[in-house]
Order: sequence, then C-alpha cells, then structure tokens
Amino acid sequence: MTPTRRTFLSAAAASAGLGALTPRPTLASAAERAQQARRGSDPWIQVDTAALRANATSLAALAGGRPILAVIKNNGYGLGTVEVARALDGHPALAGFAVVKVSAALALRNAGIELPVLHMGATTPGESTELVAADVRLSAFQDSDPVHIGGLAESFRKRIPVHVYVDTGMRRLGMPAHRALPWMRELSTIPVKIEGTFMGFTEEAEFDADQLARFESFASQARESRLELGLLHAASSHGLFLRSEAHLDMVRPGLALYGAYPSGADPSAVQLTPAFRLQAPVARVELLRAGDSVSYGRNWVAERPTWTATLPVGHADGYPRRAVEGCEVLIGRRLYPVVGAVSASHTIVVLGDQPIVSVGDVATLVGPDDPAIHPNEVARRTGSSVYDVLMHLGQNLPRVVV
Ligand SMILES: Cc1ncc(COP(=O)(O)O)c(C=O)c1O
Repeated sequence: MTPTRRTFLSAAAASAGLGALTPRPTLASAAERAQQARRGSDPWIQVDTAALRANATSLAALAGGRPILAVIKNNGYGLGTVEVARALDGHPALAGFAVVKVSAALALRNAGIELPVLHMGATTPGESTELVAADVRLSAFQDSDPVHIGGLAESFRKRIPVHVYVDTGMRRLGMPAHRALPWMRELSTIPVKIEGTFMGFTEEAEFDADQLARFESFASQARESRLELGLLHAASSHGLFLRSEAHLDMVRPGLALYGAYPSGADPSAVQLTPAFRLQAPVARVELLRAGDSVSYGRNWVAERPTWTATLPVGHADGYPRRAVEGCEVLIGRRLYPVVGAVSASHTIVVLGDQPIVSVGDVATLVGPDDPAIHPNEVARRTGSSVYDVLMHLGQNLPRVVV
C-alpha cells in the first residue's frame, strides 16, 4: 500500500525517535544564541568563507592542479554573487569568475573583485561596450562578433580579451563547431586576445564523449591553422568528477564549489563541505493537544500531546515545499521532522513530548552540520534538483558571511 502523506510523516517522526517521546537535552550553543541576538527574528543565509576556499582547494587537487574558473552565476548559486566572489578572490587555485548575467559581471567589477571576470552570455552592443569598459572578458560566439568586437577594439584602442564559446552539441549558446573554423579565422584578423576557448557538456554520458571529440577536432584544426585558442575549458562539476579527460587546461565548476555533489559523483573522491546554512530563529514553541492539526491542509494531526516549534522561513525563502515529505531541521544537536505544510514564510517541526527548544534558538534547515540537512540530501528527500536547493534560496534574505 502506498503510504498516505500523513502515515509517511508519522513514520518520519517515529524514525527520528519521536515515537518514544523521550526528553532530550537542550540545545543552542552560546555562540548560536549570541549570533541570534544580533540577527533579530528574520531568517538568513550564512555564507562560509572557509568552506568555499577549502572546496576550491579540493577541486583544484581533483583537477590535477589545473586552474579553476569559478562559476558564480545566478546570484552565486544562491549564496550571493559578490559575497562568494569576495570570499574566493585571490584564492591561488582560481583563474577567475564566470557569470551569465551582465548585471552580475558589472556588480563584481563595482565591488572591486580583482580576479578576471568572464561573461558567458549574449550581449547587446551597448552592454558589450559597458562590459569592456569595466574590464570584463566577453564570450565571442556570434556571427557578427568579428565586426562587432573589431569595432570595440577600435573604440577602446586595445586588443579585446575574449573567450571563444564553441557549441559542440548543447545547442544553447556558442558558435556551432561545424561552422567555427572559418569564423575563427575571421575573428583572428581583428585585435582580440583569445584567452580561452570553451564548450559545455550536455551531461549525457555517450554524447559527452562525442562533444569532447568535436571540441578536440576543432581545436587541433585551429592549431594547424595557427589560430590562437588560449586555455581550453569544458568541465563543469559533472565533468570534473566524472570525465577527467575533459579537464583540459582549466576546469569550470559551479555547484561543487558550494559543497554539493553533481549527480553520479562519488563523494569519497573528494571531501566537499556545504558552504552555506539556511537558518532561522525559532519563533514559537507550543504544545498541541491530541487531535490538533498543523498548518494548511491539516496534513498532520497530533496523536497525543506534542510540542511543536514554528520557524519563520518557508518556500518563499527557498525551503522546498516538499520538505514536508521527509525533511528534518537541526536545532542544537538534534533533528526534528517537518510536518503539516511548508508555507511561504513558515515551517513547523515536531519536538516531541518536551518543549526542548526555546524561542530564539537557531534552526538550520540546510547546511553541512548533519547528513540529513546536506543540500544533496534535502534534494533527494524533496525529489528536487540540488541546483534548485541552492539557486532558489531567497534573494532577499540577508547573507551573513563568516
Ligand atoms: C557554461 C557553464 N559552465 C559551467 C557551469 C557550472 O556548472 P556546475 O554548476 O554543474 O558545475 C555552468 C552552469 O550551469 C554553465 O552554464
């Protein structure tokens, strides 16, 4: 029999030891309480500088010492573009940062980030002028780029640094590989400095091999024609873990830098630490009577007197709605199951037969502190992608960089 949502939740509560309703020790450390006192009653995202830097070091080792072009697109995978860049700027393994949005590239430059920044998207002429003025590297891949970038070189009176984007089968952006060689010859007649040439994989095992073969064939023909290519790069986190032959001259991970593993990766290959915590202070601790239900839909009903805690963080802050189907939240050293419904701004957890947490205690919904709240595990339990667990983190939540 397929369990109903309610039986599933009861099972989750039982497996968390709540069936026994034993009193448990308390909880939030002095440091957590002190932090909470500073933060007030809203949720926040803690960004862990040491974890980001350690992950970069580990990934560089996995890449055999090749430089890392750190992908910090989509608001730094939810952690904050500038916050992540500041945390990683100057790391010896990093060659630069890559973003997709023009606004992100400019924000990095305005924030005084020193490492090179690559913009990996399409631009209007006005935007590319603004990017070059801000010393952002452009991605060259449009038919019009030899003329367009030539014009920029003339106006700025300098060689324009670019990375050439080759489409080997993703069919998203890039100059299609089968048309790239004559176009590249044309591009090479203008004052450009080709610092890199890159592609992206579809992450479908057999086709990835074909894509790499196309890229290498293009690169060797370009070399035979004495065309400048700069550093070849192709591997995102997936390729970094699963396709060492694609490490080429530089690797280009996003996800793994933040401490999450791409699907199919063996976590024992390299130790990564989730570099963020989604946290909120407990807003209310309340005793439910037998028969009291919780939240929208009344999906959970207390079978006996049961303490609950309400956290002022919900799906509008990026915590998945489906967390109610088996996720737990860490408060102090214990995990508590999410019950009822994750609403836009609130999540409710079951404590048991004792009010063993207090208003103001810090709850961690996603983070490195327990395997149950690891981003990959939250993604697994909610049937979602780990990319969503990170990238859907509320844009407006304060980022607390530690
Ligand atoms: C072109 C490109 N390169 C690299 C990455 C990094 O990918 P991942 O986060 O899987 O490491 C992305 C992200 O989707 C991308 O679009």
